[in-house]
Amino acid sequence: MPNLYVSGMERLSGKVKLQGAKNSALPILAASLIVRGTTILHNCPDLTDLRAALKILTSLGCDCSFCENTVTVDSRNVTGEIISEDLMREMRSSIMFLGAILARNGSATVTAPGGCELGPRPIDIHLKALEELGYAVEENEGYITCKKSVTKDKVEISLNFPSVGATENIILASCVSKSRVIVHNAAKEPEITDLAAFINRAGGKVYGAGTDRIEIFGVSRLSSVEHNVIPDRIVASTFMSASVVTGGDICVSGIIPEHLTAICSTYRELGSSVTIDNNELRIVSDSRPLGIDTVRSSVYPGFPTDAGPLLISALAKAEGTSVFVETIFDNRFNYVDELKRMGADIKVYGRLAVINGKSRLSGAKVKCTDLRGGAAAVIAALSAEGESVITDIHHIERGYENISGVLRSLNAKIIKE
Ligand code: EPZ
Repeated sequence: MPNLYVSGMERLSGKVKLQGAKNSALPILAASLIVRGTTILHNCPDLTDLRAALKILTSLGCDCSFCENTVTVDSRNVTGEIISEDLMREMRSSIMFLGAILARNGSATVTAPGGCELGPRPIDIHLKALEELGYAVEENEGYITCKKSVTKDKVEISLNFPSVGATENIILASCVSKSRVIVHNAAKEPEITDLAAFINRAGGKVYGAGTDRIEIFGVSRLSSVEHNVIPDRIVASTFMSASVVTGGDICVSGIIPEHLTAICSTYRELGSSVTIDNNELRIVSDSRPLGIDTVRSSVYPGFPTDAGPLLISALAKAEGTSVFVETIFDNRFNYVDELKRMGADIKVYGRLAVINGKSRLSGAKVKCTDLRGGAAAVIAALSAEGESVITDIHHIERGYENISGVLRSLNAKIIKE
């Protein structure tokens, strides 16, 4: 298995083009199953999670191709409605195919996605919503089977938590149906807005995406469509942390400014200069970062939970003490022990982390515990004196396209071997 080898303390500078958003491409690929025709999706990052999604689509009868960040899916001959256990295990977020299969076939069988590195990944909100949409849901021996049992003209669903995945599954299951569905307390993430834009471009009627009230008027079919995936705001924050910890000067092109409002204001609190010109962000960090009293992760438009590990890897070298409060996941700090192997002084109390900034970190052999925790380890290695070896990098490759190549283009001394 390859590892990443990093020689730290190099000042990063230069310009990178931001990759497409994994968490937008995945639900849109699920939606391509509903399209009775061809989907052409541009700006798709070449990631193992996307490759896994294409395997699922192929297993259901789609013809898929992936060439230079463009994915083509021909779903005219979809027959399947069962996703095998190993395909479900390959990608935790395959639960979002459930809504798409139901919209296409009216019934579906998937395995429960099970827990992951961030703790249990319950799907109770998803399943409760599907029952309210008129599906009979049965769970036994780890399999979940849904079958349309009642067609309702109008359904109003109130989510007890603005779950991103559950909001996406409701949109997917309802966009081709005979129902009008109103979702209250819906998730407002940009990836939801991108999914709705894709569906509407294909002939759907999804209104209010990006707000906490979404209305879906089911249509009879979705037709062939071409779409560009939005850029990845979490990958943007990764390059911002790389600038902070190396005293660098990095331009990130291809951003959507309003997706980064909370992230930019937080990185300005670190003491970096963050400027935005159209769709390009420049972050210049010419002094040691400043600690931040308290940062809380929250649902959009607050500071994203996925950007937490990248921020904490920057706070590990800041002046002073910072506190990060994680409000979304139970188990988001597994990677902290790996940063401590480099000398970071971080104490975790449940969903709260106290970071005492250190003036220096030392290279070490560390492992990736999850996708964003692995990226945090890379950022810490860039800021550490000496050599680091990062193992289990398959976690990182779920969400970052060619991270070593991109960082090398910014002057980092990093190789994958
Ligand atoms: C999506 O996960 C993202 N994944 C996550 O990114 C992201 O961290 C998360 O949204 C929050 O923004 C994808 O889009 C593929 P949730 P999702 O449903 O949909 C609880 C990454 O690294 N919950 O909003 O699973 C859940 O346990 C990943 O790219 C229930 O209790 O997030 C969590 O504590 C990590 N019951 C909270 O809600 C449910 O039925 C947020 O979950 C569903 C969720």
